[in-house]
Amino acid sequence: MLASVLGAVPRLCNGGRVTTIVVSSGGAGYGFLVDELGRLHQAGFGPEIDAHMEQLPDGIPLALYPLAYPAYDEEPTRAPALRVTHGDGTTTTRLRVEDVRVNGPQTDIVLVDPDCPLGVTLSFHSDDHGVLRQWVSITNRQPGPVTLHEVAAASPLVGASSPHLTHFGGGDWATEWTTTTEVLTPGTKVVESRGGVQPHLRSCPFFLLAPDGPPEETGDAVLAGALAWGGNTRFAFERATTPAVRVWCGHNPAASEYVLDPGATFVTPEQIWMWSTEGVGPLSRRFHRWVRAHAVRDGDALRPVVVNNWEATFFSFDTDRLLGLIDHTADLGAELFLLDDGWFGESHPRDDDTAGLGDWEVDQAKLPGGLGPLVDWADERGVRFGLWVEPEMVNPDSTLYAHHPEWIVGQPTRHPRRWRSQLVLDVLQPDVADFVCGVIDRVLAENPGISYLKWDANRPLTDPGSPTLGADRQANYWVDQVRATWRLMETVVERHPEQTLMLCASGGGRVDLGSLHWFHEVWLSDNTDPVDRVRMQWAASHFLPANVVGAHATREGDRPLAFGCAVAMSARFGFDIDFARLTDEELAVCRRAVETYRDVRPLVQQGELWRLVPPGERAALEYVAADGQNAVVFGFQLAACTDDLEPLRLGGLDPDRVYEVTAVDLAAEPGATGADRERRPAPALMEDGLEWPLREPCTARIWVLEAV
Ligand code: DGJ
Repeated sequence: MLASVLGAVPRLCNGGRVTTIVVSSGGAGYGFLVDELGRLHQAGFGPEIDAHMEQLPDGIPLALYPLAYPAYDEEPTRAPALRVTHGDGTTTTRLRVEDVRVNGPQTDIVLVDPDCPLGVTLSFHSDDHGVLRQWVSITNRQPGPVTLHEVAAASPLVGASSPHLTHFGGGDWATEWTTTTEVLTPGTKVVESRGGVQPHLRSCPFFLLAPDGPPEETGDAVLAGALAWGGNTRFAFERATTPAVRVWCGHNPAASEYVLDPGATFVTPEQIWMWSTEGVGPLSRRFHRWVRAHAVRDGDALRPVVVNNWEATFFSFDTDRLLGLIDHTADLGAELFLLDDGWFGESHPRDDDTAGLGDWEVDQAKLPGGLGPLVDWADERGVRFGLWVEPEMVNPDSTLYAHHPEWIVGQPTRHPRRWRSQLVLDVLQPDVADFVCGVIDRVLAENPGISYLKWDANRPLTDPGSPTLGADRQANYWVDQVRATWRLMETVVERHPEQTLMLCASGGGRVDLGSLHWFHEVWLSDNTDPVDRVRMQWAASHFLPANVVGAHATREGDRPLAFGCAVAMSARFGFDIDFARLTDEELAVCRRAVETYRDVRPLVQQGELWRLVPPGERAALEYVAADGQNAVVFGFQLAACTDDLEPLRLGGLDPDRVYEVTAVDLAAEPGATGADRERRPAPALMEDGLEWPLREPCTARIWVLEAV
């Protein structure tokens, strides 16, 4: 449903004229009331908002409805959505509605502070699939600068009798996407990320809020929230004893006061909302459709099967070793070879992570003749070629740093801190921005056969500061750095639209829906142990469709290869394996995995996800084609079990069809089990289920379903 303004029928309340504003998508959204003083109150936030607003009881004093976007000191006992120090030193803000503009799917509610001129526009955009996006623009209408201490992108009140919050993070490198569901009790729960360049290692910018009890796959109301911001994020959930939670969403204000010049406008990141009244499963399916349509590049396109050399070789490779990996790529039927870190650094060879970063010439000692022979070798075998870059960083042990020590992020009196032996380039400096884009231009010009880039960033931001910012506005860095990086990403995409791009930051350090705008997929974590990956991919699947989630079979954790392949095949499949060390039997497993994946890839990458059994002693999920004609089911046994486990009940099938079900055990030759094919009607598959055949930990089964 498009945004609607119901102000045509003003109500009378408390003797004044009251305007009602509804902004919604798919029927869910906000209802606002504007009181006689022009203050904006929230009268509802949730599903079926029109009906909710029509049924508002008459006669309730408007003061009892909370302010929709409270500025500091407007509601003295609550945390503000906005806190500003004005040019004359005033620390409080009072907001009144000046205008409401509706333009197709977008509604802008313009608020102003009549005493300290400041424009605060709340913007709402109704997307398809029931997504409502919102953001806030602050315009300084004063003669001098103002300081923005805190600016929420959104700060709704959610009615909640038993609020359960699910958030993803709290860990660090290799523990991304750790899922926690907890009851909110009185007080404020803060989920935030820091670190600037790779903040989502610690906390992913997504949450689920189930207002009236634990979230269920098929169940009641649940709200999904996501902040589209490639920097530090903050979600706060303030619960009082009343049945409601005040949610604060925005870029993290920690040490990030923003000085805004006269006439300038500060725009917050976008907060993305989606409500479901049927539980988390339907919510994810709709969210995936929206992500594919709007948030990632070529969201409906199939992604290739990738062979990456990182965990196969780390820095230790030469041309022959890579040619061997490319041969295996072709032999297995994989489609893209990705050359990772370590290919560059002429005078400072990148033989480990201590040197060479910033010197983007091929290390001729390691790769005589450059990348050309590798790219050609791949091309001759029908394999695409991809390349790793980390363009925002520099090792002090590099020619780049020797020539441009002034190009790094830092503060005048501090010796910049090294992290993974590297420093961050200050992308606010125009020369640095040119350099970063130039690196990519040059590499691609020299090697026209490259069609895929992995954009990495392997350290957090410290010593935030830049000579491009005045002494009084160094704290602007946290925000300006993200925007400058996004401009670089945008430029790269504009200049090289044909490139497939993967976003990576020490693993899953950048997974937000803002940065993804320029990318096709993310690397979820450097933790590739398939047992952990089942949990991580499960968590990410609440928001990210499978074709956006890079997942590679590796030897990490020393798990059976058939299990590792099956886990990776339930997302965007690939390998990080030194194939030369595999036995023939293991290579046969890899070959079967690629063959099976290429058959089921349209289901995994474009189908509808049904999460069947959450990770515990086992886990299972299913992808169903939009027309219900086919499906694929992945079953993972995570812990040993001796008892018979419940049959696996499927979801989403067409109840009128009969399906041929083929069980695939990647560890065995097809047909080896003798009973790997049967015909079952959909109701039997959904009500009685598939017999669960697994007992041993780290085993997997894939069922391929085709309507007959
Ligand atoms: C971190 C990434 O997550 C890895 O996949 C790999 O590309 C390394 N960086 C290379 O330094």
